[in-house]
Amino acid sequence: GGPVEVDLADIPPGGMKTVEWRGKPVWVVRRTPQMIAALQGHDAELADPASLRDQQPKLARNPVRAVRPEVFVAVGICTHLGCSPTAVPQGSANPSLPADWPGGFFCPCHGSTFDGAGRVFKNKPAPTNLEIPPYRFASDTRLVIG
Ligand code: FES
Repeated sequence: GGPVEVDLADIPPGGMKTVEWRGKPVWVVRRTPQMIAALQGHDAELADPASLRDQQPKLARNPVRAVRPEVFVAVGICTHLGCSPTAVPQGSANPSLPADWPGGFFCPCHGSTFDGAGRVFKNKPAPTNLEIPPYRFASDTRLVIG
């Protein structure tokens, strides 16, 4: 298929929506100010903090990997062997996660962890950060993926 439109108005702050684009799940997350703040301060624990290893559109080549810091868009497929990571907020008591978990995504298959910008956290098996698809904003509340 072609581009996919997403209405942001019905995603609550901190919530996310998954849409299908070219047969892949794409996450659209509405980041809160706390989620944006939690992207900083752990570069030393990231496998590739500046996303130099992976392919991503220029628009996402910044510290928040997004056009607008408050909207995160990523392909929801683990870059290790293709499982589906789940969103796990900061402060979660999940024993599989490190104590200093900044919030982000956890892949149950082999334990890869990604921060809230989809960057590999703690050098887990995933070789590259989560893929960012091309997208643009058609208006304040409408996103077009693809
Ligand atoms: Fe996600 Fe292996 S497929 S960690």
